[in-house]
Amino acid sequence: MNLGQRFAGKSVIVTGGASGIGRATVLRLSAEGARVLAVDLDEKGLSALQAEHPGLSVRAGSVADEATAQSVVAQWVEQAGGLDVLVNMAGIIRSGHAAAMSYDAFMSCVTVNLGSTFLMCREALPHLERTGGNIVNAASTSSHFGHPFLTGYAASKGAVAAYTQSLAWEYLKRGVRVNAVAPGGIETPLAKSVQTGMVEDADWELYGHLSPINGFASPDKIAGVIAMLASEDGGHMNGAIVRIDGGVHA
Ligand SMILES: NC(=O)c1ccc[n+]([C@@H]2O[C@H](COP(=O)([O-])OP(=O)(O)OC[C@H]3O[C@@H](n4cnc5c(N)ncnc54)[C@H](O)[C@@H]3O)[C@@H](O)[C@H]2O)c1
Repeated sequence: MNLGQRFAGKSVIVTGGASGIGRATVLRLSAEGARVLAVDLDEKGLSALQAEHPGLSVRAGSVADEATAQSVVAQWVEQAGGLDVLVNMAGIIRSGHAAAMSYDAFMSCVTVNLGSTFLMCREALPHLERTGGNIVNAASTSSHFGHPFLTGYAASKGAVAAYTQSLAWEYLKRGVRVNAVAPGGIETPLAKSVQTGMVEDADWELYGHLSPINGFASPDKIAGVIAMLASEDGGHMNGAIVRIDGGVHA
């Protein structure tokens, strides 16, 4: 693909950047000229990414941890001279029967998927206001459609969508756009862990309508939409939760 340079001179943070959609986004925005910091818990994944792409900046740590989120943003802004785009892709999934799910499993989805989004947005907003920048969060088709046996995950993603829309309103007159992607089944370790980790006696008939009819899409398909939203091409998009699922929820 012949890519443009929509992010030339732009400074970007991508969380969950070592794997899946986050990794594809790091590579896409870098290819379009951005200076990117990839943040992830997975140190090995970050090392592999940097070995393949030596120009990239990486930072290991949990963005669900308040002090880490604060220092990730502060140090990158100091190093890069500002921040134009924040992409929050760090996420986890937990499957199981609602009646058997532990409180810890439920809350881990909330803490990581919603909590890290809140922390990173809060830290980044003053910097994004200065540059007229924008945020892209990770919602999911489960934000708006039922996903049985994934209730904690779905609840956290519904909250990410609501948070995204409210934040977009709050910053409407302050020049910061806030959008989210809502992918369907994308071929990543997270999606594979659902397929292989589903509880044995789950009623697959209930889950069946969620299976992507044309198969799982590549993370590049989401990275391309994130790049559009974060660039001037998406300059009139704000508070949008963009469903990207090949049409299975049309
Ligand atoms: N794959 C799908 O089908 C799909 C569908 C809808 C939404 N999503 C969302 O897209 C986002 C990316 O998911 P993916 O499918 O690429 O998964 P993935 O597992 O490939 O990548 C997620 C990355 O987040 C990192 N991470 C997890 N917790 C973290 C933390 N506390 N701090 C820093 N990094 C952390 C993981 O180490 C991993 O590298 C997630 O928010 C996910 O919920 C994925």
